[in-house]
Amino acid sequence: MSIVGKGKRAIQGAAQSVMKKAIELAPDSLLPGGRPDPLIRRQHGQIGRPVSRVDGPLKVRGAAPFAAEVALEGMVYAALAHSTIAKGRILTIDTGRAEAAPGVVLVMTHRNAPRLNPPPRFLSAAKAAAGDDVPVMQDDRVRWNGEPVALVLAETQEQADHARSLIRITYAEEPAATSLATAGAHEVGTFMGEPLSAKIGDAEAAFAAAPHKVDAVYRTPPHNHNALEPHAATLVWRDGALFVHDATQAVAHTAWSLARIFGLEEDQVHVSSPYVGGGFGGKTLWQHQILAAAAARLADRPVRIALSREGVYRVVGGRSPTEQRVALGADADGRLTAIIHRGVTPKTPHSAMPEPFILPTQSAYAAKTIALEVRTCDLDLVANTFMRAPGEAVGTVALECAMDELAEQLGLDPIELRLRNEPETDPVSGRPFSSRNLAVAYRLGAQRFGWDRRNPVPRSRREGEWLVGMGCATATYPYHRMPGGAARITLDAGGARIDVAAHEMGMGTATAQAQIAADRLGLPLEAVTVRYGDSSLPGVILAGGSQQTASVGLSVMMAHRELVGELLKLAGNDSPLAGLGAEEVESADAGLRKLDDPGRFESYASILGRAGRGELVVEGSAPMPLETMHWSMHSHGAMFCEARVNAVTGETRVSRFLGSFDCGRIVNPKTAASQFRGGIIMGLGLALMEETQVDGRTGRIMNRTLADYHLPVHLDVPEIDVIWTDIPDPHTPMGARGIGEIGITGTGAAVANAVYNATGRRVRDFPITLDKLL
Ligand code: MOS
Repeated sequence: MSIVGKGKRAIQGAAQSVMKKAIELAPDSLLPGGRPDPLIRRQHGQIGRPVSRVDGPLKVRGAAPFAAEVALEGMVYAALAHSTIAKGRILTIDTGRAEAAPGVVLVMTHRNAPRLNPPPRFLSAAKAAAGDDVPVMQDDRVRWNGEPVALVLAETQEQADHARSLIRITYAEEPAATSLATAGAHEVGTFMGEPLSAKIGDAEAAFAAAPHKVDAVYRTPPHNHNALEPHAATLVWRDGALFVHDATQAVAHTAWSLARIFGLEEDQVHVSSPYVGGGFGGKTLWQHQILAAAAARLADRPVRIALSREGVYRVVGGRSPTEQRVALGADADGRLTAIIHRGVTPKTPHSAMPEPFILPTQSAYAAKTIALEVRTCDLDLVANTFMRAPGEAVGTVALECAMDELAEQLGLDPIELRLRNEPETDPVSGRPFSSRNLAVAYRLGAQRFGWDRRNPVPRSRREGEWLVGMGCATATYPYHRMPGGAARITLDAGGARIDVAAHEMGMGTATAQAQIAADRLGLPLEAVTVRYGDSSLPGVILAGGSQQTASVGLSVMMAHRELVGELLKLAGNDSPLAGLGAEEVESADAGLRKLDDPGRFESYASILGRAGRGELVVEGSAPMPLETMHWSMHSHGAMFCEARVNAVTGETRVSRFLGSFDCGRIVNPKTAASQFRGGIIMGLGLALMEETQVDGRTGRIMNRTLADYHLPVHLDVPEIDVIWTDIPDPHTPMGARGIGEIGITGTGAAVANAVYNATGRRVRDFPITLDKLL
């Protein structure tokens, strides 16, 4: 970088840190969340009720079409051919037999693919949606084993699959780095623009001087995305505009990104995605949508592309492996004097995300000194990406196992050790917590789980062949609210419709948002509909980072503020509300009433009727998320596991699991419990079975289907108990914090700690398969 460039960056950096300081010091009242959301006080509304999914009946009847089920007139089917080398060039592609095969409409390779702009890599711009910025089928280069190198369109899926098998390709191979051992230089990683490092005091010196210490290396393997619904898109070009039925957690981002790639105006791309069968960070923009759109343009036919399970492994990245050192120093009372958490994780040259495993450690414990760092290096593999609780899922594995090891050394109960190190303010940023009740979650959880029945001496409980143990660990995930939230309310005499570009991936968005809007507007649940899952609706809202509920919630709150203002104007002087300002009224009983004089009331229908208005349409936008720079905001949880390990075979069975959460107010106990359990089940997989196996010689994923990539099935999952504190966060919309990702955090360590308590074997190399226990 030039001196001018460096100087500019230094000035920008200084300006940023001044702004950061100003936001930290600003009075609460100036910030979003500075005044508690009035809904936090509301007692008898929809929020907190276990409402069944509003989209449930449609899904049960099979009447909710997913992206690969939408049928378009004249549609053809796509199949992809994937590279069989990790790195190099395509020398020859023989497509003759494929082109002559029955039903084939088009064979597309880099030779005839339309010229496209590179995909905007996720986080590189506000609406960037792509998992990587590799130019899609633009040249003869191969960057990973499995990269799409040809696409076939045919009249049926079977014809496309058959023709694809007839393509013959030769390559000039180049040496590739496909494992941590063969990777090049390690550099400090960055995540969402921030360097992945933190330093408070001299942690190495404090660690060296500590009377009690643990120093260990933990390893976690790569993981692949395995959403119930494999990635798919059905799309068509009409008059130069592109219409995409996608399975995505980012409709607005995807429309903008596709427009950039194809050189279109943003409003020339329309993305619809009302039903998504699981996302977990993997359902963003990958090569398949781009290739299908390019082929549809070449062939002038609508196209459906549905990745096979194996296809998902080739095209969509997953979680990177990690090698983490955690060193903890403590005094005789178990107070931490040093936390060192550093290590390495690979990424690819084209992706932006080194697995940020130090994130949970930043706010975990009140240590006097802290040293955190993620170093990263580049591998020639499919771009790694976000996967449920990136950072926290595997970071808590290392940190929370180390805490268990330290507790044993100190002769302290592992919960007591954690409580002794509860921080009063965020240990790294120094900010106050918006709300932190981890101790309450531990107390409630320990009581319910029967923690007092745990024998701290490992291998002390045996039932026949089975060694039985208990373990616990802390769960944590940050509260995010990303910029760009907006929503529209259309109110008429019968009720209200909310329009927002949000996503329903099975977690209950449509239901929870209907509940929230009903309370916000003072309407019965039946009088509210929520339209979502379409890029033409307001807002740039990511179903990710466990932030969608907050983002939509605040957007609707802002739109409601507009609505109240407009209604008061329409009500005029003949209304019982005459002369009142927006701050003096609230929504209740399908109308507005004065806060301290409920007799002064007029219904929406009456206000609209007198004004001669059939409906009222307002839109609101959420302010920038400055609250997350003012408070330290996190969801918390205490995880409890009982594991049984067979002394003869090494087989581990989780027999009981409890998650005790502190995630603010819970909007819908039914869908929330399901979110928590789903996260915990994914955590059981992380603990005991999930592992993507890459052949180091070829960079090819060897276990690329669900036959070989092991996930927990029903018999692997015990009854999972979930409880929560339900203590509202005074600084978030509805008092709620995120719940989508926290379940997978802490779970791996809780299982490992239970296995240790059962067997006396400390496995630091995940997953904990039976061979490691023999
Ligand atoms: Mo998530 S990994 O933010 O979908």
